[in-house]
Amino acid sequence: MSKLIEVTDLDIYYGDFLAVENVSMTIEPKAITALIGPSGCGKSTFLRSLNRMHEVIPGAYCKGNVTMDGQNLYGKNVDPVSVRRRIGMVFQRPNPFPTMSIKENVLAGVKLNNTKISKSDANDLVESSLRGANLWEEVKDRLDQPGSGLSGGQQQRLCIARTIAIQPDVVLMDEPCSALDPISTLAIEDLMNELKNEYTIVIVTHNMQQAARVSDRTGFFNIAGTGKPGKLIEFDDTEKIFSNPANKATEDYVSGRFG
Ligand SMILES: Nc1ncnc2c1ncn2[C@@H]1O[C@H](COP(=O)(O)OP(=O)(O)OP(=O)(O)O)[C@@H](O)[C@H]1O
Ligand SMILES: [Mg+2]
Repeated sequence: MSKLIEVTDLDIYYGDFLAVENVSMTIEPKAITALIGPSGCGKSTFLRSLNRMHEVIPGAYCKGNVTMDGQNLYGKNVDPVSVRRRIGMVFQRPNPFPTMSIKENVLAGVKLNNTKISKSDANDLVESSLRGANLWEEVKDRLDQPGSGLSGGQQQRLCIARTIAIQPDVVLMDEPCSALDPISTLAIEDLMNELKNEYTIVIVTHNMQQAARVSDRTGFFNIAGTGKPGKLIEFDDTEKIFSNPANKATEDYVSGRFG
């Protein structure tokens, strides 16, 4: 079930380096929130801090608060592994496990979580996840063949199926279409639109048209210069960000006058 995420005064560090400063943002359930901004402004860093993937990097940590439906995800007794189970992530390059079949790929996250599952439940989960990722019809006759034998766009949908198989509340996507052709990109965008009925979705994208097409809310991050922290400059309805942003830097960026 999709959830509300609230970020308050979040500072994100790599050791001594403050990479992202003082972000506060409410991420609505059943909606797509897009994060845009120039390279190095901290979009991926911010995204990874939402499901506590950031801290797997040695020396990396955060200050501030992230809550999901009121629960502090950084609370003392909260297991980061359980946070990552509830907030799944899809990466820029489709990364199916090459030696695993399509079916095994879909179940990989579930197996990693040590969830015991019967054969028939596993088959049902494979089907529902692949249907949810709009891939079922294309692969139902070759579930035992390697995931690496699919096209790039199919592999990315396989990775989305793998993420939704663990039944998360939130799906984070870091430039999920940047390695894909325009047709596959549109297929993923259609899929995001369907997924938002059930999940809270946050995507990072460099593609302005994509942000404008798929998202409900858009956050623009910017950076004052190398070594300076990235900041959330403006966060509003996507339509407002692209038609009438409050901030000059946002306007320059979305209209392509940046840098
Ligand atoms: N593992 C890391 N260790 C140290 N610094 C890092 C690490 N990953 C990112 N950074 C730094 O944090 C800052 C933000 O990087 P990040 O990757 O979040 O930017 P981004 O907005 O996602 O950029 P891009 O659009 O190029 O993907 C950069 O200065 C980057 O060099
Ligand atoms: Mg990035």
